[in-house]
Amino acid sequence: MFGKFSRRHFAKLAGFSALAMAATPAKSADNNAQPAADPHAPARFPEGFVWGTATSAYQIEGAVHEDGRGPSIWDIFAHTPGKIADQSNADRANDHYHRYKEDVGLIKALGARAYRFSIAWPRVFPDGSGKPNPKGLDFYDRLVDELLKNGIEPFATLYHWDLPQPLQDQIGGWQSSETSKAFGDYAGYVAERLTDRVNNIFTLNEPGRFVNFGYGWGIDAPGLKLPTAELNQVRHHVALGHGLAVQAIRARGRAGVKVGPAENIAACLPAIDTPENIRAAEIATRELNAGFLGVILEGKYTEGFLEYAGKDAPKFTAEELKIISSPIDFVGLNIYAPQFYVVAKDTKPGFNVLPFPKSFPHMESEWLRIGPETAYWVPRIVANIWKTDAIYISENGTSSEDKISADGNVYDLDRVMYLRNYLTQLQRATAEGVPVRGYFLWSLMDNFEWIFGFEQRFGLYHVDFETQVRIPKLSVSFYRDVIARNAIGA
Ligand code: FCB
Repeated sequence: MFGKFSRRHFAKLAGFSALAMAATPAKSADNNAQPAADPHAPARFPEGFVWGTATSAYQIEGAVHEDGRGPSIWDIFAHTPGKIADQSNADRANDHYHRYKEDVGLIKALGARAYRFSIAWPRVFPDGSGKPNPKGLDFYDRLVDELLKNGIEPFATLYHWDLPQPLQDQIGGWQSSETSKAFGDYAGYVAERLTDRVNNIFTLNEPGRFVNFGYGWGIDAPGLKLPTAELNQVRHHVALGHGLAVQAIRARGRAGVKVGPAENIAACLPAIDTPENIRAAEIATRELNAGFLGVILEGKYTEGFLEYAGKDAPKFTAEELKIISSPIDFVGLNIYAPQFYVVAKDTKPGFNVLPFPKSFPHMESEWLRIGPETAYWVPRIVANIWKTDAIYISENGTSSEDKISADGNVYDLDRVMYLRNYLTQLQRATAEGVPVRGYFLWSLMDNFEWIFGFEQRFGLYHVDFETQVRIPKLSVSFYRDVIARNAIGA
């Protein structure tokens, strides 16, 4: 049967002949005619695009009792029976505290030129505030030096969920605005010590997640289930902490250091790309992110947010809104899955969210629905509604089964598929002028994935948590090639 199917037929079917015609410069009497663009040319990212990878302190460092580190809410939570799927904790994790040089070597082998890591607040202020631990920042000093020695730009995150436990015990953590102030002081102290070498700082990682999961639904540390009014107040204190940190970094850090948040933005996409639905996705993005990104970028809570919250709305002052909306240099967006597919609606709020069918595809993690166009729409919409001129994709990546094959390799073809598709969409955004400056792939290596323990692997490098051996997965080769060519596709 295939014998009858000539190459010419095949080429025609696949649309190759049309492409070939487009690739051939048209013969023209007019010598000024432009040759048609090569349809097979790789899709390039802008010059100077920052390619990086990311991790966080609690997920990789281990050494939880070393050099004066105090306990964080995640130490206590992970040691509470029944909280972590595999009953593990991150006491040792990747032992990165002792193996950081080897791990910087892994980043270098990737060819990545930026690394987003987080600083453990309880290493620096074991009690959360008051006297800093003299040895607290030494580890990050060494890490930063090692990165710079290897030509890798450090991007530090100040808070990736590991709140010092004493702040939780004594004042209810983010339930009190004293925690916002303590966070500002900690940020200023770090800025004094590190901004001679660190040019970029993310304040808080994923408030949208740690507020809801940690204080509202009891899923993450500290495991509270607060009523809505108190939860909204927590959210407000977190936004205030961000603003105070921005101000402290400006006051106490080197002039010119760049600051911004890293949020797992509620990703709202048009279900079908019509102008009406795109507008609806913009309205939804603004309303569903009003409690953090919105108030930071607009200096006010939207009417829709306050109306919806009603008597549960947070209490705030005009002075606090001013602090929260202190000018920032970039917006960090953690992008994994499409969260809301919306269509236009004539009446308030102007959008309708469609339900997901059970059959909607997802990656190894059930929550990680596959929607590559998230990497296109979210930065485009953010840049449009908030006139943002610098965006980083501060996290993107996926879990995979990641079994070691008989030949010793990990063929994570599903991760390569996921990355290829998301990066193709991200490139589409940059080609249209959306100001995405860089991309941090989550994660450098497998690590402690919060409530899933070590059961979900997100790394480019596979980690054996017994032997601490790291091996590159197939996706290392994929990502290295993207970075080297600053392009996707061949
Ligand atoms: C994000 C977190 C990160 C990691 C990835 C998979 O929500 O910021 O620490 O858990 O998800």
